[in-house]
Amino acid sequence: MQIVNTVSELREAVKIWRLAGESVAFVPTMGNLHAGHLQLVSAAKKNADRVVVSIFVNPTQFGVGEDFETYPRTEREDRSKLETVGTDLLFQPAVTDIYAPDAKTTVTVTDLSGLYCGASRPGHFSGVATVVCKLFNIVQPDRALFGLKDFQQLTIIKTMARDLHIPVQITGIDTVREPSGLAMSSRNGYLTNTEKRIAPRLYQVLCAARDAVLAGNKTYADIEQEALQFLQQAGFQTDYFSVCRSSDLKKAAAEDVDLVLLTAVKLGKTRLIDNICFSR
Ligand code: PAF
Repeated sequence: MQIVNTVSELREAVKIWRLAGESVAFVPTMGNLHAGHLQLVSAAKKNADRVVVSIFVNPTQFGVGEDFETYPRTEREDRSKLETVGTDLLFQPAVTDIYAPDAKTTVTVTDLSGLYCGASRPGHFSGVATVVCKLFNIVQPDRALFGLKDFQQLTIIKTMARDLHIPVQITGIDTVREPSGLAMSSRNGYLTNTEKRIAPRLYQVLCAARDAVLAGNKTYADIEQEALQFLQQAGFQTDYFSVCRSSDLKKAAAEDVDLVLLTAVKLGKTRLIDNICFSR
């Protein structure tokens, strides 16, 4: 696995592959890799000749008082994990390689960025869209892969690529779960032992809400209310629980068929998000 830190080194490596007619898939990450990330790389490997992974803890997507400083940096472990799944190139830039001190340009996907997680984390999705846009311009991949766990993020990135005519095919890959059902996340490491026992309830409540939607005998507002109550009783501080249309994340109406249940909670100091996508 080649490891590069600068934009020019990255471009040089990709240019050589392109001259040989090879296709390139890209998996952007913030490191502290788990089985979910490795699944993205394995899927990328099946769909392209070469796979680039970036590890960049992006400062602009963290708000004041969030965990940018303490976000787990596990470089050595990440590198050996990436070797095992056949990564061709790891791009690990410094903040100054991505953000010039006098940079004036940001990317915001309006409307979508202010909903759900965007309402509780102002500026978060502009930080994500800006860094992903920059990374797409740097790597110029044929295809990029993201986890479906961050469903709102994935919708925003797809919308950005469409609106800005970025020629990349974006694929969402299924969430990888612990045997308990808890969605894998780099932030699960913050959970205490007691919280680890409570955390799987989040997915159980999502499954119960999906079953209630499919049973069709309650309004979506009632299902959301019940889910929020269950979560609070289980010990979570709830942020939102919403029955949405999967195409544009608007609140689902009775006639909508393709749905996603989106939720975010806090357990102690840890923010957890999860979702289920299904059709009725
Ligand atoms: O999902 C993440 O890890 C990050 O938000 C991403 C897409 C790598 C952008 O920093």
